[in-house]
Amino acid sequence: MNILFMGPPGAGKGTQAERIVEQFGIPHISTGDAFRLAMKQGTPLGQKAKEYVDQGLLVPDEVTNGIVRDRLAAPDCAEGFLLDGFPRTIAQAEALDGMLADMGRKIDHVINLKVDRSLLLARLTGRRICKSCGATYHVIFNPPKQEGICDKCGGELYQRSDDTEEKVGTRLDEYTSKTAPLLTYYGDKGLLRELDGEKDIDAVTAEIAALLRR
Ligand code: AP5
Ligand code: ZN
Repeated sequence: MNILFMGPPGAGKGTQAERIVEQFGIPHISTGDAFRLAMKQGTPLGQKAKEYVDQGLLVPDEVTNGIVRDRLAAPDCAEGFLLDGFPRTIAQAEALDGMLADMGRKIDHVINLKVDRSLLLARLTGRRICKSCGATYHVIFNPPKQEGICDKCGGELYQRSDDTEEKVGTRLDEYTSKTAPLLTYYGDKGLLRELDGEKDIDAVTAEIAALLRR
């Protein structure tokens, strides 16, 4: 099963992806995670990405497309994948169509998590992530049992550098101008499924799983 998760920053794509890949046994491909890892390692890709990610801007399409092309060719993607945070521009969506056509594959589901802009800022500024395993928490909506410590692995929690109020504003503007048009792109192809991402985390997971099993 080949799945895309869409939705604005903070809609819950990463939170839901963690759970859905566990249930469906497919790899989670997050371009945001790939950029953050490269930035941490200080690779040439990371240095390039940092110029954009730190400002809340989208990384250029040619950089991003190359990462996804390589990742989709890996053996663990043969039975399916969940793409989270890609595509984010019409040019990326067209590139993805080309990559999949070359592999004789297609997208099965595009799931859009709808959340009002007013909630996204609270979600992003309160987000905390585990340094060791990448699990996502929220100081109010999904707190760890012990403050600052991951429930799953005991790792230390940190705040992403682009989760400040100012950068969230830029990211939301990027989403509106460059990514939101993809809803029409996939709607026209009959692939788009929209879900209410404002429900609690378990309820959203249950709705996504039910939709994918249909
Ligand atoms: P990326 O890492 O993809 O960030 P994003 O799209 O901005 O999405 P987020 O990770 O911020 O949000 P999410 O929807 O995953 O929310 P989450 O589940 O964590 O991209 C980062 C940067 O990399 C971009 O700005 C860009 O520079 C670059 N980049 C990445 N992909 C690119 C591409 N394709 N092209 C170009 N550049 C690219 O949830 C948020 C918070 O809310 C958490 O604290 C969570 O606990 C909480 N929460 C989640 N669901 C619920 C719920 N139902 N109820 C209550 N709280 C909830
Ligand atoms: Zn952890």
